[in-house]
Amino acid sequence: MRFDILTIFPDLLASPLTEGIIRRAMQDGKVEIAIHNIRDFATDKHAMTDDRPFGGGEGMVMKPEPLAAAVQHVRQLMPGGKVVLLSPQGCTYDQALAQALAAEPHLILVCGRYEGVDERFRDHYVDLEVSIGDYILTGGELAAMVLVDSITRLLPGVLGCADSATNDTFSRGGLKHPQYTRPRVFEGDEVPEVLCSGDHAAVGEWRFLAAVRQTLARRPELLATMTFSRQEEKLLQKHGLLEAVREHQAAGQGRG
Ligand code: ADE
Repeated sequence: MRFDILTIFPDLLASPLTEGIIRRAMQDGKVEIAIHNIRDFATDKHAMTDDRPFGGGEGMVMKPEPLAAAVQHVRQLMPGGKVVLLSPQGCTYDQALAQALAAEPHLILVCGRYEGVDERFRDHYVDLEVSIGDYILTGGELAAMVLVDSITRLLPGVLGCADSATNDTFSRGGLKHPQYTRPRVFEGDEVPEVLCSGDHAAVGEWRFLAAVRQTLARRPELLATMTFSRQEEKLLQKHGLLEAVREHQAAGQGRG
């Protein structure tokens, strides 16, 4: 997988790439990440990448020519590549989109700034516009890093343990069970006994129920897309959770 990131603030992106799993994935050749300064593709003598909006109004708009030239430069280095614009106007990013994008060989991430980018760049070059949530950042750089991080960890061989990504919160559609480590007692609060029992089946059952309880309490709308085996349904029934789960699933179908 290759990422090319187009930005006017390349230094903002440098340090997340020099630590932890992303750095190792780059060293192991699992992911290649190149950062390009959009300013290098500006055509006028002041290297301007933004200008005032036609029609007046607040703020500045990113000019289309430097953005287009930067995409063309990347395409010369490596043809193809899906162009993803990070902006609050995009579709909302989630784990399913991370998984879909992890299957792409090459992503060109364009970090928007100011009041937005000229619509003609969007129309002519952008394949997908992504927002990382309903709030406004000062620019797309941190959003681009969210994509790089969440996609890289899904690439084959990047996480140490083969199934660490399949056990994720959201991989089944709901939240993950709580986790504990040593000490067994912290500020008078003890780790649930079953987790120290060595009984793998009992631990699995506890974790399944705890994950469902956590999802019911915090993000019940996620239950709408979750499916359960007959055995899991029996377990939910036994612990008085099945009715609440079904209610949220029915409400979700009503919404969908
Ligand atoms: N740029 C500014 N806000 C953003 C957001 N929420 N997602 C992606 N890019 C952005």
